[in-house]
Amino acid sequence: MLVLGIESTCDESAAAVMSEEGGLLSSVVRSQIGSHAAFGGVVPELASRMHLSYLPACVREALAASGKSLDDIGLVAVSSRPGLVGCLLVGSTLAKGLSMLLSLPLVTVDHLLGHLLSNDMAGDMAFPCVAGVFSGGNCNIYAGRSRLDWELLARTRDDAPGEAFDKVAKILGLPYPGGPAVDAFAAGHDGGGFALPSPLCPSLGGDFSFSGIKTAVLYHVRGMQGRVQLPKEQWPGLAASFQSAVADALSRRLVDAARETGCRHIYISGGVAANRKLRDTLQMKACEAGMLAAFPGIPLCMDNAAMIARAGLLLHASGVCSGLDEDVSSRSELGFVEKRPVTKDCTDRSKI
Ligand code: KG4
Repeated sequence: MLVLGIESTCDESAAAVMSEEGGLLSSVVRSQIGSHAAFGGVVPELASRMHLSYLPACVREALAASGKSLDDIGLVAVSSRPGLVGCLLVGSTLAKGLSMLLSLPLVTVDHLLGHLLSNDMAGDMAFPCVAGVFSGGNCNIYAGRSRLDWELLARTRDDAPGEAFDKVAKILGLPYPGGPAVDAFAAGHDGGGFALPSPLCPSLGGDFSFSGIKTAVLYHVRGMQGRVQLPKEQWPGLAASFQSAVADALSRRLVDAARETGCRHIYISGGVAANRKLRDTLQMKACEAGMLAAFPGIPLCMDNAAMIARAGLLLHASGVCSGLDEDVSSRSELGFVEKRPVTKDCTDRSKI
């Protein structure tokens, strides 16, 4: 049996074909970054319209690259939360259409579960573990008891780290998306030497807040609130200090969470997991604590449909099957205890 994965939560349209054993036959990602860059961020309406034209082509390309046809597909998996609702509706409508047309079972997937399981595609994940999803819209740390059993331990109270990278890049006059731009701009400046507020505030009980550090960068660049306006030559150092503070806060919280839950394995995923400083800092802190840190390769950190196919397969194997009436949502439910309806005969659409 093969699964067709479909992803459209934000600004990447993607499709993938995976075997029942988890072997990836194809993965196609069409990024919309070029179209949103002019606006300095993702424009939801534009993103939805672009999914409409990109997604069917992604599915065709993924099938062609796998050497398979729709007749070979036995399951359709689609991300249905969290994300931009208009974008989610495009992917979910396509998946439901295919499911109905071909009488295939459908499984809707929490995008964050997909990100967590992207670590499982490089090698088997070890459990129990602690894992973070750090992206443009999400900042969550989970305790993992098994591939489908996650408990939310910490989250952000405002921005996600990717969003903070994007906003800081804008302040520094760097292009969108800001993460890779800040990463490159800060290269060679190590810690940068600027004392910035940590996103890990003791008053938030282990949660994160990125508003203080973002504002501090703005004040340095503009010379506001009693600060001297920084000359442009010092901006790469400021970017390095911002990146170090974010990497330090995320890594410290992950190691603390692993210590508190008594596990040795730490994983990160999502676009920000591509950040070199974060990867290095986490490796170092985990090693000091006698723990093991791992992360997916860079392409799997970004939004993709392979991780959705993987999560869909596991959910389906555990008895989950989604109805055609299942809605999309901007919010994740992962870690608040998954309560999914189980339909015994997944191919009988009359029962759903
Ligand atoms: O997971 P993702 O592809 O999409 C979602 O947001 O769901 O993540 C995109 C985010 C963007 O905010 C981007 O700036 C950030 O990940 N990002 C990075 C890096 N590469 C991408 N942030 C920091 N360092 C990077 N190297």
